[in-house]
Amino acid sequence: MENKREFKLAPSILSADFSVLGQQIKEAEAGGAKVLHIDVMDGRFVPNFTFGALLVKTIRKCSDMFYDCHLMVEKPYDFIDAFYKAGVDNITVHYEALGDKTGEALSYIRSLGIKAGLSISPDTPVEVIEPYKDKVDMVLIMSVYPGFGGQKFIPESLERIARVREMTKNFDVDIEVDGGVYEENIKTVVDSGANVIVAGSAVFGKENIKEAAEKLCKAATNE
Ligand code: DX5
Ligand code: ZN
Repeated sequence: MENKREFKLAPSILSADFSVLGQQIKEAEAGGAKVLHIDVMDGRFVPNFTFGALLVKTIRKCSDMFYDCHLMVEKPYDFIDAFYKAGVDNITVHYEALGDKTGEALSYIRSLGIKAGLSISPDTPVEVIEPYKDKVDMVLIMSVYPGFGGQKFIPESLERIARVREMTKNFDVDIEVDGGVYEENIKTVVDSGANVIVAGSAVFGKENIKEAAEKLCKAATNE
């Protein structure tokens, strides 16, 4: 992802209407979204199941946005190649799924010529990212427990964002936050140090998707 630290809205298709998905993606883009957040769940790492690479391949042609693939799966290696081939620009894996295999997975993702992200769930200490600061393009801090859209933002996430921002200050790393972000709290999240902001319910859950994205971008960047 170019222009590290530049604010980017990343609507999550988890809250979209899949019968008109392509159209809704275009509406989000027209509202100023730069990143499309793609939540992949396997029913094992999280108690929910979403979709596979076939769907992503189908929607790749809908937009030139940066396609950001968030793998909430027990065995990331089973999925990396398929999503890469489907045309995503980034693959984010969870530390909780990989443990001491994390570095290897990040290097593998980068070796494909796409960006690599590392995500931590709310109960994982932020310090675990320390060894990977030069191996990631993005750190994804979960501000809800992964698995479902529409949850409430965990307030302690703000402190975690600030700590990751401090830890990565000398590295070229985007900080993404995912879960429970709305017009009311997006500015606080950005002020804490995050620059890529995922929003599912607050974009695709709204009647007017373009307007919802515009409002979030405005609220996030208002001085
Ligand atoms: C949750 C997903 C999120 C989710 C966010 O496990 O990773 O991306 O779609 O949804 P909202 O914005 O509704 O909290
Ligand atoms: Zn996500």
